[in-house]
Amino acid sequence: MQFRIGNFGLRILLYSNPKSAFRNSKSNMRTIWWEEERVKLLDQTKLPHRVEVVECTRWEEVAEAIRTLKIRGAPAIGVAGAFALALAARTLPSRTREEFLEALTHISRQIQQTRPTAVNLSWALHRLLQFARNYPGNFQELPSLLLEEAGRIAQEDIETNRAIARHGSSLIKPGERILTYCNTGSLATVDYGTALGIIRAAHEQGKGVHVYVCETRPVLQGARLTAWEVLQYGIPATLITDNAAGFLMRKGQVDRVLVGADRIARNGDVANKIGTYTLAILARFHGIPFIVAAPLSSVDFEAPDGWAIPIEERPPEEVTHIGGLRIAPEGIQVANPAFDVTPADLVTAIVTERGIATPPFKESLEGLRSRAMVS
Ligand code: MRU
Repeated sequence: MQFRIGNFGLRILLYSNPKSAFRNSKSNMRTIWWEEERVKLLDQTKLPHRVEVVECTRWEEVAEAIRTLKIRGAPAIGVAGAFALALAARTLPSRTREEFLEALTHISRQIQQTRPTAVNLSWALHRLLQFARNYPGNFQELPSLLLEEAGRIAQEDIETNRAIARHGSSLIKPGERILTYCNTGSLATVDYGTALGIIRAAHEQGKGVHVYVCETRPVLQGARLTAWEVLQYGIPATLITDNAAGFLMRKGQVDRVLVGADRIARNGDVANKIGTYTLAILARFHGIPFIVAAPLSSVDFEAPDGWAIPIEERPPEEVTHIGGLRIAPEGIQVANPAFDVTPADLVTAIVTERGIATPPFKESLEGLRSRAMVS
């Protein structure tokens, strides 16, 4: 299935699949869903030029889509991982419950290795495995139950993002100029987004915000995806090179930096797209609040600090090539860490679905974990 943006809006594309059991009628954009006995996801590597849907009937295809960034962004990766494992469960040739659980655990490990930094992936896989291990009934019922559980995770993600947007938008003052990084919108989640969701909510509340979108080298999630999303929502925005951020701050054009997270350690250290740390230092130097937005599923309470977070190293071609065109000479050595860690000292606040954590984060994050969801 393929639509060109000029001919059909994304809205039309998604509404062309109205039978999906997991579709939320209030949503107007969805990155991943279950339909016609398969997982369907928007191919983000084709955006903004083409809106294409990838259809996966095997777990290996979903895992490959995660590895190659067809689906990306911590919460979306988690949901994709859950659907991948649910797909796997449908094809396991197991004779006993033990065999089934062992095979499921083995596949879960393989899915987890596709993107090691975003903790939402292991969080979602763990949730499905626990569901399977604790299920008291006949294990042959598990494949369909696991699929339902993956659908629930997807649905919860939308509700979580709406709650993050509600909490986070209370921080935004009228007329603010907000600088954001990477893509944290609908495309990085199931729908609505985290940091970009907050900006979207502030825009919908008529606060007259303006967004500076950093292009986000090397894969250009900002230029390709965030720029495309803000145009869909009608949010006033300006695309800048990553290198321009400091100069804009110096000229007084940035009131707030708002980013997402791939994994947050217990002490509030934040792993996010490579370059986030640089922005946090710039923000501190210029006295600008640096806000992180993420679901509590992005907080790794097992990781005492950022040093415990595995940082994914991605292929050198992401640096030596742009849009398939080689820009660096053959033979040059390349380092391509996909994420960096911003120390908690540089973070002003972390917005979650259960409220806003402020320093000291060890206490405030723990407090939010034990607090019931407030609507
Ligand atoms: O490599 P990506 O594109 O998956 O990285 C995504 C990011 O770094 C996002 O900022 C982060 O996942 C937060 S998404 C709500």
